[in-house]
Amino acid sequence: MLPVAAEKKDLNPSTSIKYDAAPTCATCHMSATKELPITHEIGDRISWTLRPPVSEKIDAKKRGKVKSWEARRDDMKKVCSACHTSTWVENFYVQFDGVVNLYNDKFAKPGVGMMKFLKTEGLITKTGFDDKIEWTWFYLWHHEGRRARHGAAMNAPDYVQWHGLFEVAERFYTELIPEFEELLEKADHDGKKDVAKRGRILLDEILSRPENAWFSGKEPEAVKKARLKAQEEFRKRYAQ
Ligand code: HEC
Ligand code: HEC
Repeated sequence: MLPVAAEKKDLNPSTSIKYDAAPTCATCHMSATKELPITHEIGDRISWTLRPPVSEKIDAKKRGKVKSWEARRDDMKKVCSACHTSTWVENFYVQFDGVVNLYNDKFAKPGVGMMKFLKTEGLITKTGFDDKIEWTWFYLWHHEGRRARHGAAMNAPDYVQWHGLFEVAERFYTELIPEFEELLEKADHDGKKDVAKRGRILLDEILSRPENAWFSGKEPEAVKKARLKAQEEFRKRYAQ
């Protein structure tokens, strides 16, 4: 059995279930297992970095010079395996990677592209946080996007969904995109027609992707129909 915080031997004394085997921060990130020594390098078992606007594998910038993300992940799996079966652990990583990749590809990379465009074309200033859209973008990746990613890393579904991807999506579709469009309109008014046109091409390319087609209305008719049918069946099933 791995060490757990001694004072938390029984996290829920009001029930008969004993939670004393549930891991703490130190159990997963630092403690020794049968195969692994104790470590104080808390990045040692982490494969992604969940901090930047777009997540990347932790060794991406120093590949070959530091412990690889694969080796770090293998070590974390050894920790999990002290308590869980390998299927359980493999499935966890499928879900975790799924959330990080979804966040990255659907929201973060397009967001980075839009913000870069605004800055290099001079539609926002070089000073950070003096334009509204910079606050919008910061909330998206730094607050909501990080919550979703960390929630997925450490089994907090409420943070993945309601405090995470739900808010990321709301921020992206109802704030970031409209504010980007407003800045293009302003550019038009200021006589920067060429810049505005290029901005619209960029946005159009993003919104034409399959994952955004529901929003831009560019979904094929068959997909729209299937969606409506599924909604109808859901309502019938739950008598709503
Ligand atoms: C059940 C095991 C487990 C527990 C308990 C746990 N973590 Fe984690 N933690 C993980 C895993 C798995 C990841 C993602 C690893 C990866 O990227 O491959 C992670 C990622 C992180 C990250 C992200 C690091 C980065 O830069 O992206 C932080 C920070 C973190 N944990 C802190 C904590 C803290 C603080 C606690 C206690 C409150 C804690 N962890 C408890 C397993 C755990
Ligand atoms: C010290 C033993 C221990 C370790 C180590 C451990 N777990 Fe767990 N894990 C538990 C226990 C106990 C529960 C049930 C907790 C509960 O029901 O409150 C649990 C629950 C879970 C759940 C279900 C969460 C949910 O919401 O139902 C997942 C997924 C999970 N662990 C994955 C992992 C992964 C991945 C690792 C390694 C990064 C890990 N665990 C490490 C003991 C451990």
